[in-house]
Amino acid sequence: MTQDELKTQVGQAALHYVEPGSIVGVGTGSTVNKFIDALATIKHTIRGAVSSSVASTERLKALGIPVFDASEVDELAVYIDGADEIDHAGHMIKGGGAALTREKIVAAQSRKFVCIADESKLVRVLGQFPVPVEVIPMAAQRIIREFAAMGGSAKVRMKDGRPLVTDNGQHILDVTGLKISDPLAFETRVNQWPGIVTVGVFALQKAGVCLLGTEAGVKTLV
Ligand code: 5RP
Repeated sequence: MTQDELKTQVGQAALHYVEPGSIVGVGTGSTVNKFIDALATIKHTIRGAVSSSVASTERLKALGIPVFDASEVDELAVYIDGADEIDHAGHMIKGGGAALTREKIVAAQSRKFVCIADESKLVRVLGQFPVPVEVIPMAAQRIIREFAAMGGSAKVRMKDGRPLVTDNGQHILDVTGLKISDPLAFETRVNQWPGIVTVGVFALQKAGVCLLGTEAGVKTLV
């Protein structure tokens, strides 16, 4: 099976967690795009979605799924999103698509986080994938020095020769060289640095369920 087929498989499997009549929290990325396509086939059974990015909002709307603002909804039953890495306890690295801040907001608003990922994303210890961190641009150089003191190497994410600008008007640092053996402590510590908008380690908002696409079918972890 190709990686694309594994993503399709978990995107469809996630429909099992969608409650009839509910508003669904929807993440961002190529795996979530498969979920959105699957969701469109049952769109008459749900009220709509809260989306974590401009890109997902556009895809949802194009398929006729109503999109609500996060502030219009109190609590969501489920949030479905991908990951760049996930460990066996459900801690994740996210933000490869630069949508980490809104992803964390919608995840925090949801009772259950269902992570959908192909098996290449499962790791023993987080940190092989560069950790995305959304920052206020004026703080970027100081935060780069903070990561260097921790043994990490942080670089501003670029697009078309300029710093990438997120949906929130901020910049992204990608941090390599970190081995995150205690994700909760790492997230808590980095969250406190001035100028950090969001660190792409999801330990406080970890996955309650992980649907992992494998050659042998969808495995349910956590
Ligand atoms: C976007 C994310 C994505 O969930 C993550 O990058 C995984 O993406 P994909 O499903 O395309 O591999 O965090 O900010």
